[in-house]
Amino acid sequence: MSSDVFRTDHQSTDLDDRWAALTSDESQPDVADAFVFHFSEVEEELDPDQRWSTWLDVERGSRGPHSVTQPRPDWVVTEQAAIDTELGILKTGKEADVFLLERAVQQIGDNPARRSLLAAKRYRSEEHRSFHRSTSYVEGRRTRNSRDSRAMAKKTSHGRSVAAGQWAYAEWDALCRLWKAGVPVPYPVQVDGTELLMEFIDDGDGGAAPRLAQVRPKPELLGSYFEQLRDGMRELARAGLAHGDLSPYNVLAQGDRIVMIDLPQVVDIVGNPKGMDFLLRDCHNMCAWFTSRGLEVDEQELFADLLTMVF
Ligand SMILES: Nc1ncnc2c1ncn2[C@@H]1O[C@H](COP(=O)(O)OP(=O)(O)OP(=O)(O)O)[C@@H](O)[C@H]1O
Ligand SMILES: [Mg+2]
Repeated sequence: MSSDVFRTDHQSTDLDDRWAALTSDESQPDVADAFVFHFSEVEEELDPDQRWSTWLDVERGSRGPHSVTQPRPDWVVTEQAAIDTELGILKTGKEADVFLLERAVQQIGDNPARRSLLAAKRYRSEEHRSFHRSTSYVEGRRTRNSRDSRAMAKKTSHGRSVAAGQWAYAEWDALCRLWKAGVPVPYPVQVDGTELLMEFIDDGDGGAAPRLAQVRPKPELLGSYFEQLRDGMRELARAGLAHGDLSPYNVLAQGDRIVMIDLPQVVDIVGNPKGMDFLLRDCHNMCAWFTSRGLEVDEQELFADLLTMVF
């Protein structure tokens, strides 16, 4: 194969001249069009609020679940050439901040341009973070290795980032497990250290869906929200789990459906000594909100119903 097969438009005139000089032939080199690559420069400069997509940087187990029966949602952008752009902060919290991120890829050949919005939950590892989630949530949980356990106990900076990463991975595990079980949670896209990327739950109008605490649904929708909540809590209970921090602030209202969020502390109902207490508190928080909005629901009834799923 001659060296002029791989050439840019810029080089082609020189080569044509050289070809003509060498052969004393004025005709064009006979290179089949199919073998000529035309390069165009790719814009490699990223803005300060951009990065290359981290999708392929993380190991396979850190990318969202999918199977034959539950394919990965088609909006997930998996191309290596995709770019992540920070669009702003959704909410700062005590343990984590949630940002809006765009993951988008330009049109490449026949592949069309694609764009998806993600919620990036970034757990804090700095000293000033204060976890309101107490150690009672994690009783019985193991850390990955003893060096990490010692670092966490001594509260070294490595220990603090291990702790932050563990909350991110705990939420990741819970989201994957619950999404597969059909519980209404955001689709978990990927986890990378202290950063968790998930489906952005929108309000259909470009903004974030409101928290349940912020809405006053009409009676029919309120009833439907409660059914959805009970079904979701049943699925959780069937897996032996309670949310552990369920409240109208950790449930989003997306049009006529609800989505449960904020799951790093999911609790093993039987394995955790306070499992039942957490489940009852979840029932209490949610029933109190529904009752305040005009739907009389009984927390003990809900609690008893959920327990039948566990045992
Ligand atoms: N997937 C999502 N889609 C849209 N908005 C989201 C999503 N995840 C989180 N948010 C927004 O960010 C807020 C905080 O998220 P989350 O409750 O998971 O974090 P947190 O650090 O526990 O916050 P807090 O301490 O306020 O409970 C939510 O109330 C919601 O408004
Ligand atoms: Mg929350």
